[in-house]
Amino acid sequence: MEETAKILIDGTTFELPIVTGSEGEKAIDISRLLRETGLVTLDPGFVNTANCQSAVTFVDGEKGILRYRGIPVEQLAEHSTFVETAYLLINGELPTQEQLNGFSVLLNDHSLVHEDMRAFFEHFPRWAHPMGILSSMVNALRAFYPEIPTRTEEEEINITVTRLLSKVRTMAAMSYKIFRGHKTVYPRHDLTYPENFLNMMFDSPVRPYVIDEEVVRALNVFWILHADHEQNCSTAAVRLVGSAKVNLYAAISAGICALWGPLHGGANQAVVEMLGQIHESGGDLAPFLARARDKKDPFRLMGFGHRVYKTYDPRGRIMKQVCDKVLGKVTREDPLLEIAQRLEEVALKDPYFIDHHLYPNIDFYSGILLRAMGIPVNMFTVMFAIGRLPGWISQWKESTDDPNWKLQRPRQIYVGPNERAYVPVRKRG
Ligand code: CMC
Repeated sequence: MEETAKILIDGTTFELPIVTGSEGEKAIDISRLLRETGLVTLDPGFVNTANCQSAVTFVDGEKGILRYRGIPVEQLAEHSTFVETAYLLINGELPTQEQLNGFSVLLNDHSLVHEDMRAFFEHFPRWAHPMGILSSMVNALRAFYPEIPTRTEEEEINITVTRLLSKVRTMAAMSYKIFRGHKTVYPRHDLTYPENFLNMMFDSPVRPYVIDEEVVRALNVFWILHADHEQNCSTAAVRLVGSAKVNLYAAISAGICALWGPLHGGANQAVVEMLGQIHESGGDLAPFLARARDKKDPFRLMGFGHRVYKTYDPRGRIMKQVCDKVLGKVTREDPLLEIAQRLEEVALKDPYFIDHHLYPNIDFYSGILLRAMGIPVNMFTVMFAIGRLPGWISQWKESTDDPNWKLQRPRQIYVGPNERAYVPVRKRG
């Protein structure tokens, strides 16, 4: 028998279906509530609202579990590559060797950026944030790569997806080179996806870049850990904007804008800035912890807390291990790592953090890892964006293929003034 929930409104009982997910989590389906009762539900920040049914990513925030298409992220971080994980997320299954080779060839074929787009790049102010540049450039891709009417919808989507995955990486490296006032580096056919990125970022005519396998591995893991995280703010933005049937470039551009925020992807930059402030102020953690506990102070300990995880973020744990490895390898002393380790130790024993279930999240160690790789702070969120692309794309695909697809349009409870007459300006005040 179908499980239901009962709701009593003004003496009348309404029955609502209960939906059960494949991992046993339950939700009350309220999609008929308005029609049947005239009432909407109020849930600011969607803290209690599932926006869709999704088969892409499973997160259990109490137990600290994260799986892409059923596969634990720990296994992917250990054995997979970013390109293979992207294939898994977008297509639902791990590729055969032949499929993987084909996908890699396509990514290589689409890695160049239209030469006319360089003019765009060159006219951004040098101090422009790379996330602003990236979202504009991704949106502009539609103009440079218009739809070809003779292609089927499926062909068009496949080519757009490959273009995005490949060109975003090239554009990210280009924006860094232009920001530095250096000549941009073209992608190379003989390098893998992360190798190519590192080479485009750091190769220079006066100092050829030497690829280090440990750094390449770390970058693969960094991107795998960021590849999807179910209905987070930027993915919800991609789904919402995508629901208006805009092209995929525009939907992804919206996701990049959402990710930019310091409460979301921008936290990796904010963490390093905060650790830098602690370092500059002499390394004493107490004033920062006191500020984080103070309700009147808007300051938050960046890299701590998560809407879903109420335990250690599983991605944070892996990131910390990779961080230790890479820092050991590049033998670049980083005083911020020592501060981060101390801060973590102290915060995990602090009653405020224990009571509020605040644990380190993915961003706590990711900035230190990126610094060790030589990535500049203002590129941190761009690194997150490259990693999150497969997730955005797979979630967008899932939402457009959904037989229950709907334009996303939330309701509200109006609390403004009741009807009143317009007053001409001469009679006001
Ligand atoms: N430092 C101090 N207090 C905090 C923090 C923090 N980092 N995070 C949450 N709290 C407190 C908050 O003040 C509130 O306290 P009270 O109940 O006493 O009023 C309580 O914990 C719940 O906070 P909330 O803002 O209602 O929780 P949320 O689920 O809306 O917030 C969050 C999640 C990630 C926005 C928040 O924890 C935060 O601002 N963290 C710092 C920014 C950060 O590291 N963001 C990266 C998130 S992981 C990457 C990603 O997925 O994008």
